Amino acid sequence: MKVLVIGSGGREHAITWKLAQSPKVTELIIAPGNAGTADLGENVEVKAEDIDGLLQLARSRFVDLTFVGPEQPLIDGIADRFKSAGLVVFGPSAAAARVEGSKIWSDDVMTRHGIPTAESRAFDDSASAIAYGRSKPEGSLVVKADGLAAGKGVILPDSYEELDSAITEMIDDALFGDSSSKLLLAERMSGPEVSVFAFLQGEIVSAEVAACDYKRIGEGDTGPNTGGVGSYTPPEFWTSELAEQVRTEILEPIAKALVAEDSSYSGILYAGLMITDNGPRVIEFNCRFGDPETQILMPKLETDLFDICMAVAEGRLAEQEVSWSDSAHAFVVMTSDGYPGSYKTGMAITGVDVAAGHGLVIHAGTARNELGALVTSGGRVLGVAGSGESVKHARDAAYAGVRQIAFEGAGYRDDIARRAIVE
Ligand code: AMP
Ligand code: GLY
Repeated sequence: MKVLVIGSGGREHAITWKLAQSPKVTELIIAPGNAGTADLGENVEVKAEDIDGLLQLARSRFVDLTFVGPEQPLIDGIADRFKSAGLVVFGPSAAAARVEGSKIWSDDVMTRHGIPTAESRAFDDSASAIAYGRSKPEGSLVVKADGLAAGKGVILPDSYEELDSAITEMIDDALFGDSSSKLLLAERMSGPEVSVFAFLQGEIVSAEVAACDYKRIGEGDTGPNTGGVGSYTPPEFWTSELAEQVRTEILEPIAKALVAEDSSYSGILYAGLMITDNGPRVIEFNCRFGDPETQILMPKLETDLFDICMAVAEGRLAEQEVSWSDSAHAFVVMTSDGYPGSYKTGMAITGVDVAAGHGLVIHAGTARNELGALVTSGGRVLGVAGSGESVKHARDAAYAGVRQIAFEGAGYRDDIARRAIVE
């Protein structure tokens, strides 16, 4: 079977790595991919947002299954377009992808169906939003742009002044264009955060899996937000009781709610949760796998990913096994100097082969130069996923791998998964 994977990050390299292990997958095409995916299949230079180009690629190459990695094409309706063209695609329709594409819609659905989340109010004019903000205690609200904002759409203001300027920047100054013409003011929750994933097809919810990610560039969660610079599983606070609670209070209800809302989901659902004193609450839903969680979830997935994707796409998930191993995993991302601000690219990367003796090396911002040498091409360059019987083993393996890799200006956080280790 011929599979097309859409995307170019570490998430898509990990997905391609897993699909390559399926005895049923004979050919992999990645659009546009990176230097890591090029070792597993054929990279084709079509961008993830170019739905027409992707459709033409899938048709001309007689692709049997298309796996959509990132959210933008899903929100733009790639799954609907592929299906109407008679192609098999893994990923939700544009209607279902609104769980991520519109925070206001997602919040409305949760409220209508009693799914636990932060209490929120939607606004499209700054004066009313500011007045509402002033009616609540200082520092008790978060500001969320309604639409996609490259992971930067949430602001956590500590003072009324910060709250007011976040609101005016988003609505009046169009900080995120159309995405912030409407916003949510949500109650600020506290507690540990966890990313929970399950395959969904209508009301069917597969076995779930939980992981934690690190978003800030600096150790101790300091500095600016990034696309994600590390992850581990299992979270130290994740128990079977909590998993059951998340399943019965969040995952199964949202699957049913989306069917009831005429937006039946098909694909992988990512629930970003906060474990508050009052139980798990939804921070956000995403319509795709997480990055960098996927880099540890693919090694943890025992079942053939191709089989799962076909079962979801063809409406057979109820009969499909989905099994996650008990092993522990940690993933450490190496970044370019300056990231998430501006950075240079084209730095030669060494040590990847030696690092592969310690863990799985997953590429993100990598490319081959004209001489065929591996060089940096992005802010998040690559990372190493370690595995073992405990998070400590997994973490040690990941860092042992990372220490073998070198490029000019390479950086990484030293504290990934440290909090999960019981000494
Ligand atoms: P999001 O883009 O929705 O994942 O939000 C980014 C980050 O903002 C989350 O990972 C949380 O740390 C934080 N956040 C979002 N919503 C809330 C909330 N209602 N209460 C507290 N923190 C939040
Ligand atoms: N793990 C963060 C994200 O994928 O959005």
